[in-house]
Amino acid sequence: MLQLNAQILKYVAQKIDEVVGIQYTEDNYYQLESRLQDLCKSLKIESTDTLWKLIYHDQDAKIMDQIYDLSTNNETSFFRDPTMYAAFKDIILEGRPFGNRTAQLWCAASSTGQEPYSVAMMCETAPGFSYEIHATDFSNRVLERCRHGVYSNLEVQRGLRGEFKRDFFEAHDLDSNQWKIKDSIRNKVSFEFLNLIDRWPPDHGPFDVVFCRNVLIYQTVEMKKKIIEQICDILNDPGYLILGGTESIVGLSNRFDSLSHHGGGVIYQKKG
Ligand SMILES: C[S@@+](CC[C@H](N)C(=O)[O-])C[C@H]1O[C@@H](n2cnc3c(N)ncnc32)[C@H](O)[C@@H]1O
Repeated sequence: MLQLNAQILKYVAQKIDEVVGIQYTEDNYYQLESRLQDLCKSLKIESTDTLWKLIYHDQDAKIMDQIYDLSTNNETSFFRDPTMYAAFKDIILEGRPFGNRTAQLWCAASSTGQEPYSVAMMCETAPGFSYEIHATDFSNRVLERCRHGVYSNLEVQRGLRGEFKRDFFEAHDLDSNQWKIKDSIRNKVSFEFLNLIDRWPPDHGPFDVVFCRNVLIYQTVEMKKKIIEQICDILNDPGYLILGGTESIVGLSNRFDSLSHHGGGVIYQKKG
């Protein structure tokens, strides 16, 4: 394995911070090093001089894009944090705060698609609830997987209840035990690249519910505040923000009220 020096790791960490906002500190340089080593192996880059020339002197955009993509952590699963889904069901799907109009939902860090598809499956269980889901992520690699909608046996076993698998998936490849999300669900979700720390396209939004889960944890406090402020600006009234199970808005914004669900999940409602 190619041993990477501190100069390379520091430079790459700084570029990742600038472009994606993800913080790599010296404590987790080992993660960055291992991801860069894999990339060097796949690109047959055999010396640190070659790597340094490509990323520093040539500013090779293709390699830098791959580095930014691999800097992301794409951990996810179907119905991650079930208490959040219980709160979403009671407050949004049964509470019907948007009346009969088509609710606009945004999954702001979709990863490989388990989250937007879980939200879609949940919405399907609410008769008459009309919705569209816009799912975005920084990583084009994971967006490709979202569009494909194919999951391994292991992935569907992580969080997907039997009835959801039966109703919303079909066997994709019996030999390798893969499952494909049915078109009826896939067509409810559109997928696009969006970097949360960049200026968002002017036609992005407005939305009724924004799922911004397990992505702000990688950003600085200043950036978290900025992203939440922007989310609040493109939320309708009423409008709701849903964070990850271990995340909280405390100290980041006072523009939301917390709605605590009896099951333990929390949904943030934009103040009127
Ligand atoms: C840990 S996953 C969370 C996925 C899903 N929301 C969940 O909770 O299961 C974090 C996702 O955030 C994406 N991400 C990281 N930085 C981002 C940024 N600046 N803009 C948009 N997406 C980003 C990553 O590519 C990754 O897919």
